[in-house]
Amino acid sequence: MTDRELIDRARRARKYAHAPYSKLSVGAALLTKNGKVVTGSNVENSSYGLSCCAERVALFKAVSEGETEFVKIAIVGPDDIPFFPCGACRQVLFEFAPDITVIILDKQDINRYSLRELLPHGFGLQEKRTK
Ligand code: THU
Repeated sequence: MTDRELIDRARRARKYAHAPYSKLSVGAALLTKNGKVVTGSNVENSSYGLSCCAERVALFKAVSEGETEFVKIAIVGPDDIPFFPCGACRQVLFEFAPDITVIILDKQDINRYSLRELLPHGFGLQEKRTK
């Protein structure tokens, strides 16, 4: 699965966004360690605060299907302008994949970031709870 293919999957997922309020459709495609692709789109609600970002939809779908190890995630917004994951999504990704690569499209360019670069000092309890 190349980065370009993962971007294409995110772009296809974006078509299923439910974004009648913000009118901003976002698609995400998550590649698991097993080579599986799990996609998500943002799903908004008339009670605005209940809306969920594309990245979290993809991650929660994957985890609820037993996939917990991830390699990379591609995010696509309108007109191929760069769309970075929000702070909440960075933290949720950090829980499962602190070393995941985040692929952001910027017109024709593919930019890659490590999640640790986007979320330095992410919050984690897992290792602390073993004490
Ligand atoms: N949104 C995402 O899906 N991902 C992000 O990383 C940022 C924002 C969605 C949430 C909401 O439905 C819309 O974009 C406007 O904020």
